[in-house]
Amino acid sequence: MNELAKSGRSVGIVGVGAALPEKVLTNFDLEKMVDTSDEWIRTRTGIKERRIADEKTATSDLAVAAARQALERAGVKGEDVDLILVATVTPDMVFPSTANLVQAGIGAGRAAAMDLEAGCSGFIYALAVGSQFVASGVYETVLVIGAETLSKITDWTDRNTCVLFGDGAGAAVLRPVPPGKGVLSLHLGADGNGRDLLKMPAGGSRRPASLETVQEHLHFIQMNGTEVFKFAVRVMGEASVKALEMAGLGTADVDFLVPHQANLRIIDAAVKRLALSPDKVVVNLDRYGNMSAASIPVALEEAWSQGRIKDGDVVVMVAFGAGLTWAAAVLRWGT
Ligand code: UT7
Repeated sequence: MNELAKSGRSVGIVGVGAALPEKVLTNFDLEKMVDTSDEWIRTRTGIKERRIADEKTATSDLAVAAARQALERAGVKGEDVDLILVATVTPDMVFPSTANLVQAGIGAGRAAAMDLEAGCSGFIYALAVGSQFVASGVYETVLVIGAETLSKITDWTDRNTCVLFGDGAGAAVLRPVPPGKGVLSLHLGADGNGRDLLKMPAGGSRRPASLETVQEHLHFIQMNGTEVFKFAVRVMGEASVKALEMAGLGTADVDFLVPHQANLRIIDAAVKRLALSPDKVVVNLDRYGNMSAASIPVALEEAWSQGRIKDGDVVVMVAFGAGLTWAAAVLRWGT
């Protein structure tokens, strides 16, 4: 993949955007809903509050808002987009794809559109897919979105999971950039043997929706937190180092790390492995919780809009998620 990026045109992120629901759900609110405490949630995860979409808001609504901001900042019109990729585990519906809804929402009449599902690694997977189309010269402009309304598939009676997740969307516009800038390497991985560690069991062809599946709470997230935690600590460091090696770089070259925002202890382990100082790491899970595929683009947008990522910076994005999946990307920022 690294070779493909190198042999084709250089492709970079030329605009980022984000959208978050207004409603804030704090740890203190959760204390009133399940047997938990602000202290437990903060010390075990680092999360203080998260955003929750209202009843009328679906994933595509957040995705459209994030996409509009990213396009505006990139100076690109909807009709100039060639391809829309939406990474999500919470599509508006099973089909049509959420990307198709975004296509209509932003007036991208020329664009092809499809969803991509790789759990919390989805945004980097979509970045990898989208960048190939630009690198090869097939497309000029690809819109990559990570968008989730996890609150809609959260079991609000299960304290093991309901304290962790939040809603949001982030978007990035991919276009050709000068040689040496943009995506330097991509590393994707999957292990289907871990399929049962994190899943929503029903609503697909294995367990179609029925009265029973609803009564058994099978349309909600189920997770083996301890096993996912162990996997995450291992893979976040490994994947980052692998992607850096592929880019011909080392940990000392990293200017900025944008990790998946699941648990502060997992991020800290990755930061230690990469020997980074804390000011080189984006952390926003305290305010947004784990937004799955939306975590990384929202964190990227925040770091960019605060002026923390500068032209020429080596930026590493790294994620892990349901599947199991993992992914890392190394970019040299700038256009
Ligand atoms: O994007 C990928 C998504 N998933 C993740 O990234 C999750 C990765 N895993 C984790 O972040 C952590 O494993 C958790 C935050 C989910 C759990 O933290 P932990 O330190 O691994 O706790 P634990 O699962 O070992 O549970 C410790 C105790 C248990 O009680 P007992 O059995 O020791 O009496 C749990 O029942 O904490 C209890 N517990 C809670 N207590 C208060 C679990 N959830 C809660 C809660 N409030 N919300």
